[in-house]
Amino acid sequence: ESREYFSTELLSWYERSKRDLPWRRHRDPYYIWISEIMLQQTRVDTVIPYFHRFIERFPTISSLAEAPEEDVLKCWEGLGYYSRARNLQAAARQVMERHGGKVPNDKASVSALKGVGPYTTGAILSIAFNQPEPAVDGNVMRVLSRYFFIEEDIMKTGTRALMERLAGSLIPAGRAADFNQALMELGALVCTPKAPQCLTCPVMAHCSARLEGAELRLPVKSKA
Ligand code: ADE
Repeated sequence: ESREYFSTELLSWYERSKRDLPWRRHRDPYYIWISEIMLQQTRVDTVIPYFHRFIERFPTISSLAEAPEEDVLKCWEGLGYYSRARNLQAAARQVMERHGGKVPNDKASVSALKGVGPYTTGAILSIAFNQPEPAVDGNVMRVLSRYFFIEEDIMKTGTRALMERLAGSLIPAGRAADFNQALMELGALVCTPKAPQCLTCPVMAHCSARLEGAELRLPVKSKA
């Protein structure tokens, strides 16, 4: 069946093809969290040196919580969207006060952290704690809309909910961390917006958009 095929082939491709990224060498939830905040609006190549500097300067949540704000902003200089850095520090202080200095592992607590929205909540719970929560960003919506031929406008809020249900239902038992990263990786490396590399795609054989020759028309995204 094409859903099971999708999950199985995607995971096996990820094992073969995943990039060696610094935050993939750690299982520390704090490092996963920092990487996901940095990756929200910034490309992987840009993030890598910032990630190294940040964890060297602020190796623990308490070191981040206790630092002067200007030191945190200094370390973020050039990455842009500085509210991310301010929120990250505010959230580190929340974690010290409410969670004994450890990143919480329940959905309500994670999503209550400053700067952490639905995507980042799912990313932290799945990547750091291997919980079967979807982590749906633009890359993931593109992959799913193409493979499953979903023509709903991805700018509509209901579409995200639909994508989250679908993404959650595809996670193989016990494999949330790898599966969610595999989806992101396919969107970043193969199922790209303008020139998807269908011939190297591990799930091309059952991709509905590809079968219709419609990959460039999906996802449907209204202006503004
Ligand atoms: N984009 C967002 N999260 C990512 C991750 N964990 N690895 C690679 N790219 C990403």
